[in-house]
Amino acid sequence: MRIVKLHTTDSTNDYLKSLAKEQKLEEDTVVWALEQTNGRGQMGTKWSSDAGKNLTFSVFRKIQQITIDQQFYALMAASLAIKDVLKKLLIKDVSVKWPNDILSDKKKICGILIENVIKKGELNAMVLGVGLNVNQTIWEQAPRATSIKTLTGIHFDLQEILTLLLEQFHYYVNMLLAGDLETIKKDYEAYLFRKDKPSTFLNRNKEQFVGIIQGVTDQGKLILLEEDNVINTYDLKEIELLF
Ligand code: BTN
Repeated sequence: MRIVKLHTTDSTNDYLKSLAKEQKLEEDTVVWALEQTNGRGQMGTKWSSDAGKNLTFSVFRKIQQITIDQQFYALMAASLAIKDVLKKLLIKDVSVKWPNDILSDKKKICGILIENVIKKGELNAMVLGVGLNVNQTIWEQAPRATSIKTLTGIHFDLQEILTLLLEQFHYYVNMLLAGDLETIKKDYEAYLFRKDKPSTFLNRNKEQFVGIIQGVTDQGKLILLEEDNVINTYDLKEIELLF
């Protein structure tokens, strides 16, 4: 495994994607930066993280064995790996807020941004970007954020946690590539935040409605049980879960 450690870069996902264009990358090439000047989140958001306090890194991995239609499984596998490591560090009440926010104590501790490399219409590789809050304890702009230090009072070594995460990714990606999709989905659904509980959502028109999370489809849509026992599925742009 090759780990490129940088002091500062714009975004580790972007750095790794350009590296992949320039050279044939070894499996599990990792780019880890102590500081990102343009950290990116889901749906065009920004990912802010105090320099040197948290983990911000990306992993390159070939995933030719799965199809474009199955790409949500990579996100589920990554979420499970992070959940395992947090549990190992004795973080309580870990859940996954659909699709891929890792929460503890109902606050966000980690975000994932996967960008896939498609070649000739087929899924070729993924760039898995992870922002895990480790030693930061104050957030000016994110009141719903937390970190390992906030939750445990312990200052952690970033390298140690990175090693644990990479081991766990390896485990779940192998499970994914071996085709054990059923286990991945079952485990992911078991950790879904507010599963089986009536919850309030906002639709595209910003109207509130109540639904009960049942699980996810193979493509990653959220399955909700709504009024009159109607089942509907939604993608990320269509709905927002209110805390
Ligand atoms: C989210 O929750 O919106 C996803 C956040 C992902 C942030 C990580 S930090 C490392 C990698 N590089 C980026 O620019 N983004 C991801």
